[in-house]
Order: sequence, then C-alpha cells, then structure tokens
Amino acid sequence: MRVRITPGSRLRGSLVVPGDKSVAHRWLILAATADGPSRLLGVPVSLDVRSTASCLASLSPQGRPGLEAWIADGAAMGDGHGSTWNAGALAPADTSLEVEGEGWSSLAEPRGSLDCGNSGTAMRLLAGVCAASPFRSVLTGDESLSARPMERVAEPLRAMGAEIATVEGHAPITVEGGGLRGVTYETPVPTAQVKSAVLLAGLMAEGETTVLEPAPTRDHTEIALEALGVPVERDGTTVTIEPFQHGGLEGRVPGDPSTAAFLVAAAALTGSELTITDVGLNPTRTRFLDVMTRMGVRTEARVGRRELGEPVGELWVGPCDGVRGTRVTEEELPLVIDEVPILAMMATHASSDTWFLGAGELRVKESDRLGALGRGIADLGGHGGVEGDDLVVAGGGLEGGSAHAHGDHRMAMAFVVAGLAAGAPVEIEDVAAADVSFPGFVPALQALGASIEVLAP
Ligand code: S3P
Repeated sequence: MRVRITPGSRLRGSLVVPGDKSVAHRWLILAATADGPSRLLGVPVSLDVRSTASCLASLSPQGRPGLEAWIADGAAMGDGHGSTWNAGALAPADTSLEVEGEGWSSLAEPRGSLDCGNSGTAMRLLAGVCAASPFRSVLTGDESLSARPMERVAEPLRAMGAEIATVEGHAPITVEGGGLRGVTYETPVPTAQVKSAVLLAGLMAEGETTVLEPAPTRDHTEIALEALGVPVERDGTTVTIEPFQHGGLEGRVPGDPSTAAFLVAAAALTGSELTITDVGLNPTRTRFLDVMTRMGVRTEARVGRRELGEPVGELWVGPCDGVRGTRVTEEELPLVIDEVPILAMMATHASSDTWFLGAGELRVKESDRLGALGRGIADLGGHGGVEGDDLVVAGGGLEGGSAHAHGDHRMAMAFVVAGLAAGAPVEIEDVAAADVSFPGFVPALQALGASIEVLAP
C-alpha cells in the first residue's frame, strides 16, 4: 500500500487501539496449556498473534474448535488492511476467543512444522513450550524471521535438557523436548522473549527455574504467571518460578501501548489533543512516555483497572508546540525497544539532537531498524546517522520525500506519523506492513483527521 500524507492537519478524538501483541501471545500460550477452559476478549487479529494461535492449534492435533474458529474469523477479517477497524467507533472490531484446555500433557507432536510467520515472539516463546513437551517440533518463519538470532533461546533450553538444533543460529529450529530440569540462567542481552521462553519451559521442569537479566525488560509473563497462582519470586531483575500446572484464564487483552505510542507522537507532532482508552499501562512498557515527556510532550496516564494483573487505563496527550531532543540511555533502551522507530522519527522534528545509546539490538528486529532509520530519515529530507551502536538524530524537521517500510510494521507507521509534520507532502511505500500490529492504522488516522490518501492499495 502506497500512501501520500499531506502535512498540516490537526487530529482530534478518543480511540481504542488493538490489543497488545506481547500480552496476547502469552495469554494464548497459557490458555492452550491450561488445565481448564479459558475465555479471552480483545485478542488482536494481527498476523503475528494469528501465527501463535495457529501453532498452538497444530500442537493439539485432536483439535481446538474455539481456537480454530477464531483463527478462521481472524484470517477473514484481518487480511483486508483495516477491515478489522471500525472507523465509526474508533476501535478495533471486538473478538472473543474460547480455548479448550486439558493441560500441558494434552499437547502432542504436530503433523507439520510450526510456522511462526514474521513473529520473533511467537518463535522464541513457542520454543520454550516445545522444549517442555516430550516430542519433536520444528519451528519455521518467513525470510525476515529466518535471519534473526535463535541461539539466544536455544542455549538456555538446551541447558534445561531439551535437544535443540538451529541452522547456523537461525530458524528452522528443531526441538526434541521433555524431561527438563530447572536452571539458573543469566541472559547475556536483556530480552523478554528469552526470559519468557525459559520461564514457560520452567513450568514443566523439575525444580526451580531462575532467570537473571542484565537490565529490566517487559514483565508480562511474570505478571500472568502470578495471576494464575504459579509460585513466582521477583527481586529486581531476577525471577524464580516453581513447576506448576495452571488453570484456565479470563481477561480482556489491554490495548497495545507500543501502538498507542504512534498516536501519541502523531498528536504531539500536530499540536493535537487525543485520548486513548483501554490501553495497557504496564510500567515496563510505558517508559516511552518518560522519553516523550523529556522531549516536551504533555501526557497523562490513569490506571483504571487490572486485567489478569496487567494495569489498564486511559492515556491523554495534550497539545504541545514543538519537541526538543533528549538522550535515551543504554539502561533505558530495552524498555523502549519497540518505540525507538517512532521516537527517532519524532526526533527529526525536534529543536536539538537526540541520542539513542547502545541500540545495536535494533539491527536484529523485524528489519535492521538502525539501518532503516538512517535511510528513512535521509529519504524524507532529515538528518541523522548511526555511530557504532548509537543512533543520533538531528532535529530541524523533514523536508519531505518518499520512503519505503520494507515489510516492517513499525517503520511503516513511524514514517507515516513523521510525515504529518513534514515541510512538504510525503509518500510512504508498503504501509500494509502495519497490519502486523495495527490493522486499520491508516483508517484510524484518517478518522482522527489526518490527511492521508491511499495512492495504491
Ligand atoms: C517482545 C519482546 C521484545 C520486543 C518484541 C516483543 C515480547 O523483544 O522487541 O516486539 O513480547 O517479549 P526482545 O525481548 O527480544 O527484545
């Protein structure tokens, strides 16, 4: 999809963003391994989450009618670049999902390979599930996922006793699982995906499992396990669990704060006021608000309720008249890892330079996001560059131009939002990539008042 953004429009309104992918992957996995039925509301039908759901259905060859019906409906709804978006209500179409659960022991050897599509979270978390399951599974992914590092998850799962083969460190990953023992594992890079894979496997291991992280990362797995009664001990960046068979779960997936970040930036760059409701406000996900506050953006977050332990509430963005640069430290980076694309594109409009320190991990995301940001900023008439593992973005604004998202959802959305404040119209290619996390991204912005024309579907 190619779109043209004409800068100068104001946004206005209140909306709900699609459910959080990170939370949805975890709740789906926990529902499929629960002993008892689960009911999940608001599970986003984004491609990544459907990948996890399909893999879980394949791990139950006896059938999971509830899960399969949701996948089929999701495929019908989700492939239309936003047909899941209800522009009138400024909310995603609501979904409800029942998962039959007969415990971990009901998982069985899948007939074919488990296709994780574009999703690193699906592949790494499911590697943990497969490691705990006494049969052979093969996890595959698309071209981008097959280029991403997988030894980081294979290594601790091997230490727990699973047999795991990667192809020179990449997918396909072949797992012979079962018979695990708990370990203490120190992750060399801060990554919630590896932490979560080890903790999920630890549910079925003998003895305690401990993960130590070099810096804090998102804690959705720990929160859900606690809510399900699993013995979990947390102390700073260390988490220990004991083996446990949990029961079914119920909850509504909170709106995705990482998706909300694009709208907060859109409001800030256009001097608009916006409210995002029913959004996840887990502090390990909202650090981008601190960075934006330092950049001069006015926001207020109010927690209204909890869903399976996750704080959920309202996020208000007030009109602001310009942003300034900041420094995002190496310590803080893992907590804004998915927001760097939008923070960096926002920084092109700042009155001074912005630094992202120790951002090398961005090279192994859905695309090489450091390279993509450097290119995209230049293509849109801005200035910035990569120095070692640091990204520096010069402020001063974007002159206009055209950029390509190259299949990366967050790059697509970051370029479109940055275009709202450019000096001249901007064209972005491959905006359909946004479907991975925000089907309906373009109609949502249009409904809020942005001037965006779809030039080619
Ligand atoms: C995720 C963790 C992050 C993040 C990804 C989702 C998760 O990856 O970039 O989009 O759901 O655990 P890493 O943990 O590998 O940094």
